[in-house]
Amino acid sequence: MYKIQNHKVSENPLYRTHLDRDGYERMYRQSIEQPDMFWAEQANRFVEWMQPWSKVHESNMETGEAAWFIDAKLNVSVNCIDRHLKKRANQTAIIWEGDDPADSRHITYRQLHEEVCRLANVLKQRGVSKGDRVCIYMPMIPEAAFAMLACSRIGAIHSVVFGGFSPDALRDRIQNAECELVITADEGVRGGRRVPLKQNVDKALASCPDVHSVLVVRRTGADIGWVEQRDIWYHEACAQVSADCAPEPMDSEDPLFILYTSGSTGKPKGVLHTTGGYLVSTALTHHYVFDYQEGEVYWCTADVGWVTGHSYIVYGPLCNGATTLMFEGVPTYPDASRCWQVIDKHKVNVFYTAPTAIRALMALGEEPLKNSSRQSLRLLGSVGEPINPEVWEWYYQVVGQRRCPIVDTWWQTETGSILIAPLPGACDLKPGAAMRPLFGVVPALVDNDGNELEGPADGNLVIKQSWPSQIRTVYGDHQRLVETYFSTYKSVYFTGDGARRDADGDYWITGRVDDVLNISGHRIGTAEVESALVLNDWVAEAAVVGCPHDIKGQAIYAYVMPMQGVTLTEDILAQLKVAVSEQVGAFARPDYIQVTNGLPKTRSGKIMRRILRKIACDELDNLGDTSTLADPSVVDSLIENRLNRG
Ligand code: WTA
Repeated sequence: MYKIQNHKVSENPLYRTHLDRDGYERMYRQSIEQPDMFWAEQANRFVEWMQPWSKVHESNMETGEAAWFIDAKLNVSVNCIDRHLKKRANQTAIIWEGDDPADSRHITYRQLHEEVCRLANVLKQRGVSKGDRVCIYMPMIPEAAFAMLACSRIGAIHSVVFGGFSPDALRDRIQNAECELVITADEGVRGGRRVPLKQNVDKALASCPDVHSVLVVRRTGADIGWVEQRDIWYHEACAQVSADCAPEPMDSEDPLFILYTSGSTGKPKGVLHTTGGYLVSTALTHHYVFDYQEGEVYWCTADVGWVTGHSYIVYGPLCNGATTLMFEGVPTYPDASRCWQVIDKHKVNVFYTAPTAIRALMALGEEPLKNSSRQSLRLLGSVGEPINPEVWEWYYQVVGQRRCPIVDTWWQTETGSILIAPLPGACDLKPGAAMRPLFGVVPALVDNDGNELEGPADGNLVIKQSWPSQIRTVYGDHQRLVETYFSTYKSVYFTGDGARRDADGDYWITGRVDDVLNISGHRIGTAEVESALVLNDWVAEAAVVGCPHDIKGQAIYAYVMPMQGVTLTEDILAQLKVAVSEQVGAFARPDYIQVTNGLPKTRSGKIMRRILRKIACDELDNLGDTSTLADPSVVDSLIENRLNRG
């Protein structure tokens, strides 16, 4: 058994942090006891307002309604750009590191202002105005950030769709959000390979008649299809408009963006975030969790297509006037030393990545680290999935040379910003633990009946009070918000995660307790994969579960039942995997497909996933009670034919 060693705050006596233990405890206490006073002070400190609020906050944990900084006005792009022009117009806002190590760009705050204003004017010219939805389907290039900020400048609501999603997945998201304009690039470039983004957009738009304009960034110069009137070159359009654009004053509760995420049932949900509370929370957490210091270079490796990219590449860091690095490539291209080379090249101080990336690099040994010094590094971060203690130690000892605290940050698309993390200088570090709630966050553990558990315990993680960057609604379906998050347990927000609280009161996230998979830090609903598997004439029924995977964290294990009279040949199984890539995206392709003539169902017809999960995980000694199954013999045949043997 791996022994967990605690790292004390005092191990870094020279490390100057924004807060020490007492400071954190004092602020946390105030944030809970006098939340309005606390948040008013923080909102004034981190954000510039055009008009003050009449009331700090109002919320209802039964209906999921929440409003923060009520009646206040602000503009996000002003906070992320204009506000910094007095002091840091010539400071780099965005460092872009291309897929090819020879490609990089520095964009100052002044240049960012011009780029964003021009694009905002182009959007206006194409008829986009406050409240309209714009889809952003982009590679990791600075124009992706310009696009998000340009929307916020004019009050349009962006919906960024990760560039790894298939045309069908893109179509569903464009339709659901009723987007009228799409911003994309001719192609993306990742790990030396091209991604046909514009071609995917063309396919998706075949069934999206409401999209009247497509703005195309020229990234590779590839030959692409062109629809006259509808398609416009980004650089040509931006060159023809003014470099100034007056910001739209937005209500604190006006929507800022929609971001689709997977749940345990049905199609992905459009998580809607609003303006004021989201910006205050992302700026505050970026400041304290990463202990961000003036002038530092900060690198978050996420893609802007996920919430981590929204909150911690774009909005939080830019609101704080930071220098944020955006990386187009992958950690193993051209070789496994890439991240360390980039850190030395740009003198990165804070590095924030996902356990899956660290595991992949750790598997390749220490050699790739040898030709980098990484002396600039001060702090390391982890996000997206639980980090195994061994991997934590490697990150700490080898990457950070025992010098850099690791912040293991727990949060979700729905929470908008980090809710649980060890604040550097204020918390001990325990490998694998997310540790302590941030300001204003009141976590609790409940059993399956909703009874709150006291002291050291294992349970379902819930949040008892509203926080500023809380999800406001599921776009177009508020009832789904209530059902998904506010109905499982009474009067609390249910996270879908399990957690343990140890004797010191520190939290350890144990993973999802619902049917959501986490593959390389990507959230995938089992229902999405299942519906892709049954969309043909071969498969009658499918059930998908996760099983452990050394690098990806989890792998996808699918059980499929053929239609009567059909034989599922190797060739058909390969086609089923392709079908999932087409319906969802390549990252959701099943690792295992087991053919079966029956699934373990209760007499009422409900699939017992617990059993399928155990078989997929090759954990056969403890299958639990199978006596309630309609046909218990199914289990023996499933076990006999299992694919993932230890
Ligand atoms: C998981 C990503 C353990 C968790 C920001 C959550 C984590 C889901 C951690 C949200 C962490 C995220 N430790 N698990 N530090 N961070 N998760 O919406 O299961 O893509 O519910 O947001 O990732 O994924 P999402």
